[in-house]
Amino acid sequence: MNRGVSAQPAVRAAAPTRTIHSRSPEQTSRIGEQIGQGLRAGDVLLLRGDLGAGKTQFARGVAAGLMIPGPIPSPTFTLVNEYDGRDRSGARVPLAHIDLYRLGDGGDLDSLGLDDYLGGAWAVVIEWPERAADDGFVPPTYLDVALVDTGASSRTLVFTVHGDAVRLLDLLGTDAP
Ligand SMILES: Nc1ncnc2c1ncn2[C@@H]1O[C@H](COP(=O)(O)OP(=O)(O)OP(=O)(O)O)[C@@H](O)[C@H]1O
Ligand SMILES: [Mg+2]
Repeated sequence: MNRGVSAQPAVRAAAPTRTIHSRSPEQTSRIGEQIGQGLRAGDVLLLRGDLGAGKTQFARGVAAGLMIPGPIPSPTFTLVNEYDGRDRSGARVPLAHIDLYRLGDGGDLDSLGLDDYLGGAWAVVIEWPERAADDGFVPPTYLDVALVDTGASSRTLVFTVHGDAVRLLDLLGTDAP
């Protein structure tokens, strides 16, 4: 008997994912650069990993991909650094590099204006997004980048699509840079 519940798959399809191993800080940066080159306003990257995992190193590559000249200092104390990025056609892509590690209790998230950065006018890279989890911070669409220290100069990067972000995963080349 048809109860009108057909078409739904019993098990939700696994989120698209990709794992890349990096052997140097420079390689982590080049991987970030591949994504940065295709980043658009409205795109969101959430970078996870312990202290020293390489999140900022990756973010520097993203900035390079948007043709932003360095230096790209860690926004650990400022919480956010803003940059005037450009895509390959020369069109503006404003980049917000955010680090929530030092997010305090209370209104910091509001004063930071996180919702404004996520409103679609910015490409946004966020280190330590889990610091805002208590405030219910989960963007509907983002590429999750988890970095794991796997040795003195090696890191494993696991990319996972959330929501409608498969385009961001596809920015990674078939061969690691
Ligand atoms: N393969 C690698 N990829 C990235 N960083 C590496 C790699 N190998 C060694 N490193 C070193 O690890 C450190 C990464 O520092 P980085 O500031 O990027 O970490 P982070 O995840 O942003 O830390 P924090 O949580 O403090 O912001 C750098 O000193 C870098 O030189
Ligand atoms: Mg950092």
